[in-house]
Amino acid sequence: MVGGEEKEIGLERLNSLRKAVRKINQLIVRSSATKELARSACAALIETRGYMDIAISFRDQGGSTISPVAHRGRHDRRNWEVELPPEEDDSLPRCVEQAVCHKRQVLIENTVDYCQGCFHCRHGKAHRSVLTPLTYKEKLVGVLFVCLRSERSIDEGELELLKEVGDDLALGWSNILVEKQNRRRSIAMESAVDGIAILNEEEEYVYLNGAHAQIYGYDSSEELVGKNWKVLYEEEEAERIEREGMSDLYRRGYWRGEATGLRKDGTTFPQEVALTALEDGGLICVVRDITERERTARQLQQSFVELAETTSRVLGVRDPYTQQHEQRVAELAREVGERMELDEEELLGLYLGGMLHDIGKIAIPETILTKPGELSDIEWDMIRSHPRRGHDEILEETDFPWPVAEMTLHHHERLDGSGYPDGLEGEELSFEVRVIGACDVVEAMSTRRPYRAARSKERVLDVLGEGRGIKFDPQVTDILFKMVEQGEIEFD
Ligand SMILES: [Fe+2]
Ligand SMILES: [Fe+2]
Repeated sequence: MVGGEEKEIGLERLNSLRKAVRKINQLIVRSSATKELARSACAALIETRGYMDIAISFRDQGGSTISPVAHRGRHDRRNWEVELPPEEDDSLPRCVEQAVCHKRQVLIENTVDYCQGCFHCRHGKAHRSVLTPLTYKEKLVGVLFVCLRSERSIDEGELELLKEVGDDLALGWSNILVEKQNRRRSIAMESAVDGIAILNEEEEYVYLNGAHAQIYGYDSSEELVGKNWKVLYEEEEAERIEREGMSDLYRRGYWRGEATGLRKDGTTFPQEVALTALEDGGLICVVRDITERERTARQLQQSFVELAETTSRVLGVRDPYTQQHEQRVAELAREVGERMELDEEELLGLYLGGMLHDIGKIAIPETILTKPGELSDIEWDMIRSHPRRGHDEILEETDFPWPVAEMTLHHHERLDGSGYPDGLEGEELSFEVRVIGACDVVEAMSTRRPYRAARSKERVLDVLGEGRGIKFDPQVTDILFKMVEQGEIEFD
């Protein structure tokens, strides 16, 4: 062949290969599966008529191996697989090993000499072959193998074009996988039970999953896209979230908390919220409706209250005075707590503590409890044993969410250490103990007992005034003082 002719044929081949490259580029846009892309690419390449065999291998879905997914030509080349990350491996054909382990394009001038009969080259006759690694972001994602008749020459231009094909295939592979991953993510988002939303820098919804709309009573997410998150909260609550949540979010990058959501129909519901700041200034919001959970918690609390009331009633069968006293201390402690602006949870703790604080009296003979007149030392000791007995014999093993056992054990302790049974002082008296202790004294003095009349209002005010800050917590004392003074506590 004369030089000019050879050149012409070479150009023709390159042009036909360029055509194949364009075709592969179109395939990348159209293909939705990596196998389909590989098959069509093999078909496009074989049409260039320059190649005997073509095989394309891709990284599998889990990303742990590379193996052939499509081939065209005379030989089946599907029977090899490379574990990733690739290590030098004697069992691999040398040609594959070069491309995979070193990510280098390999041109094999004589397959028989080079591979000594590997499955790529085992058809006896010597051929030329080119292995082009497919890399995406410097990661190996596959190998393109082409085999040529030995009489067919190959030049730099063709090798470069094969590299281009390799890059296109790698890009196509990645697009398909990213697309697949996106599809899976959006299925996951849409099937989530929690509301998930993405908001832009202006704190407006740009995406909401179905659950997010549904939780707030909207028929579709579309109704909320473009709106500010504040439409899903009452004004005051939105201000609170702004104050507590948003400031935290922009300072620390996230916020977790509870809030009260506003449904489309105007009703509200308790929710758990998690906000996460996005790098571009937007945020992700995950919302969970906790109505059910709150209901269960309330039911559980109600059972605690009923249990405490029942226990107190058991005591009341024998000792109605103490039962009434416990009931009134419970209500008084709750009232004091309300004036201290405690939350519902803490108020319930005080109520239960009041309800059970004298339960130890169940172990003391009725004759002593109701004995008129002076008590002997032994009798006093017995009476004074009620906090310890209530604690040790009845409540110690219980597992209330509030320190009920402690309130029982220490309700006769005083700030100055003059109380019993442990003679605790100052800070050793817990907040609950301080409330129950002072309420206990006021209630006991304001009612008549079988063995004595109720004390006068003035006497109670004296005891409180004298004990303020010495025996009793000053804040609790002030509240009780005012209540007695203003006639808010009934006297027998
Ligand atoms: Fe007591
Ligand atoms: Fe008491």
